Amino acid sequence: MSLREIVTLPNPILRRKARPVTDFGPALQTLVDDMIETMRQAPGVGLAAPQVGVSERVIVVEYPEDEEREDAPKKLYVVVNPEIKEISRETEMGIEGCLSLPGLLGEVERALAVTVRGRTRRGQPIKIKAKGWMARIFQHEIDHIEGIVYTDRATKVWKPAPDEPALDNV
Ligand code: NI
Repeated sequence: MSLREIVTLPNPILRRKARPVTDFGPALQTLVDDMIETMRQAPGVGLAAPQVGVSERVIVVEYPEDEEREDAPKKLYVVVNPEIKEISRETEMGIEGCLSLPGLLGEVERALAVTVRGRTRRGQPIKIKAKGWMARIFQHEIDHIEGIVYTDRATKVWKPAPDEPALDNV
């Protein structure tokens, strides 16, 4: 495993629609391992392949299973070719930061719950039901593989004050 450099705007790869993965071989396995390591080191709670300069439809998410409990174990998701299959009509506002847009925060309205379908890193079909922050992270990462960044959707974007609490980056 090795760390990869996180690319930031205005790198055009962040604005490109990423390619679907068709080969689940060693190159994908290395990419996934490197993305997990890079996300943890950043630190972040989610990362999409375009953020490490690879225009492929791969995301990783790592977040406590129970967001109400600080000591809840974290769960790692790797989703290849992810798609949002169901989306709640109910939405919620939340503040997001992104590893590819350092030094900014934004307020974004997102669906409260989503169902994501895709493949595991080994090519097996998976379905994930996420709500709250987990649903927000999936929506943010799936936007990345479409070339969308959160500031495109934000109602407000600002540079945080030095004393503003740090957020989980995605
Ligand atoms: Ni991001």
